[in-house]
Amino acid sequence: MLNEKFIKEIIKTSADMWNKGWAERNAGNITVRIDKNEIIATDELDFSNDWTKLEKILPNLAGEYFLVSGTGKFLRNISVFPKRNLGIIEMDENGACYRILWGYEGGGEPTSETPAHLQAHSVRKEISNGVDRVVIHTHTPNLIALTYARDFTTATLTQLLWEMHVECPVVFPKGVGYLPWMMAGSQEIADATADAFYKHDLVMWQHHGVFATGRNLDTAFGLIDTVEKASDIYIKAESLGGIKHKPSLDTIIAISRNFGFEPSKDIIDELRKKS
Ligand code: 13P
Ligand code: ZN
Repeated sequence: MLNEKFIKEIIKTSADMWNKGWAERNAGNITVRIDKNEIIATDELDFSNDWTKLEKILPNLAGEYFLVSGTGKFLRNISVFPKRNLGIIEMDENGACYRILWGYEGGGEPTSETPAHLQAHSVRKEISNGVDRVVIHTHTPNLIALTYARDFTTATLTQLLWEMHVECPVVFPKGVGYLPWMMAGSQEIADATADAFYKHDLVMWQHHGVFATGRNLDTAFGLIDTVEKASDIYIKAESLGGIKHKPSLDTIIAISRNFGFEPSKDIIDELRKKS
């Protein structure tokens, strides 16, 4: 099991997250919907654990397996002790409960953000026709700092980030969903995050951190890396005396279209109304 491709990939991503400064202490969590055919032959799975009930039934995740970082575990330790810091869970035949099949060696549980991750997976599996398999949550300092210093809506946060690096309208044309502060780990924030994932593949929690989704860990990591870099550029430009030049909304739309993308119509409409 420890040689599986998905374990190697999560080791790389979690180490990168630590090295980027996004994952202090136990900050952040990662989930990957894995193809059970890849591991079904192993004798390492334990099917004797009790089921844990979810508040929301997620029928389209029935029978799915997920690789899930453990609650309270440090992402920086995954590379050294994968089986202690990670687990594999199985959803039951109704998508109502999950049980641990592997990992959390020495005691542990899936991340406290499991409801938000699983509901996000449910939405993304539905709207991507099964392509999206990854959800990453992490504490990106520059993006978090913006949510202390400025007032945002989804449209205004997205505009700021699109403006701060001309790659942004290409990398995240659907924008960044912005959620006001809610209690982490709550059902309320899980519901709001899942809702936002219908429209965006990035979701920012005010004062806390970011969620990203995608087909694989590189895709989700790359989204976060790009918004965090745009936030860093904004803070640097402001500290140099303020923004003097930036691409117009029309230029942002043109950049996105030049690479075959269409920026979110809802966001563009709202920004046009505002200007
Ligand atoms: P966990 O240790 O439960 O994964 O929580 C970390 C975190 O970032 C909570 O939002
Ligand atoms: Zn967090």
